[in-house]
Amino acid sequence: MTGASNGNSSKADISATATDLTSMTNADANTLADYYDKWAQSYDADLPKMGYDAPKRAAEIMREQGVAFDAPILDAGCGTGLTGLELAKAGYTDITGIDLSLESLQTAEDKEVYRHLKKRDMNKTLAFGDNGFAAVQCIGTLTYVRETRQLFSEFCRVVKPGGIVCFTQRTDLYDDAFIKAIQATTRAKKWDLISHSDPMPYLPNHEDFGDRKHIFYDVFRVK
Ligand SMILES: C[S@@+](CC[C@H](N)C(=O)[O-])C[C@H]1O[C@@H](n2cnc3c(N)ncnc32)[C@H](O)[C@@H]1O
Repeated sequence: MTGASNGNSSKADISATATDLTSMTNADANTLADYYDKWAQSYDADLPKMGYDAPKRAAEIMREQGVAFDAPILDAGCGTGLTGLELAKAGYTDITGIDLSLESLQTAEDKEVYRHLKKRDMNKTLAFGDNGFAAVQCIGTLTYVRETRQLFSEFCRVVKPGGIVCFTQRTDLYDDAFIKAIQATTRAKKWDLISHSDPMPYLPNHEDFGDRKHIFYDVFRVK
């Protein structure tokens, strides 16, 4: 089923920016920042209409993995803060968010759930010290990261040994190159896989995603 043909939602229900989402898959950093700056005002209204529940699931994973409520968590690609909001609702109190889009970071700040918010490009080094976080989550964002292997190494560097890395990736982008980046990080003894989910709904009510593009949730323990 697709949401639109099922009457769950349609292009008319969501903002014009949201309908263009798939065209951004291969966009460069400036184009992405502009796109998400423009979307920042209506993103929080659009995403629930599209059936997006990944922020809630990610917060559940942090709890399931026993990440302490006062432990520092990095929300990598925090956007407007839907992910931080769910972490805060789950009880987390020390959340740092990073994103490319300044307008999204401003919207995230208005939610008053982040301790720190910083503009960062995840295709570059993260500019945090070693072992400073108990966990990192990266939800709905790896779509746009080209330097996946470098980013996975960076996640393992900024998260302390024994900590958690949780990310989602679209099933259609979980390709050979992506798997090789995961395997290289494992071979380098930087993390071990805890769980790889079945394909899960991503944006079930967006007509370009519907039942065609799902996401995996992957969880790793840093060594
Ligand atoms: C679909 S949104 C997801 C936001 C949030 N995690 C959520 O689940 O609602 C993708 C986010 O990735 C950010 N982004 C894209 N490329 C990035 C990069 N190279 N570095 C940091 N953030 C990036 C965008 O600005 C956008 O806020």
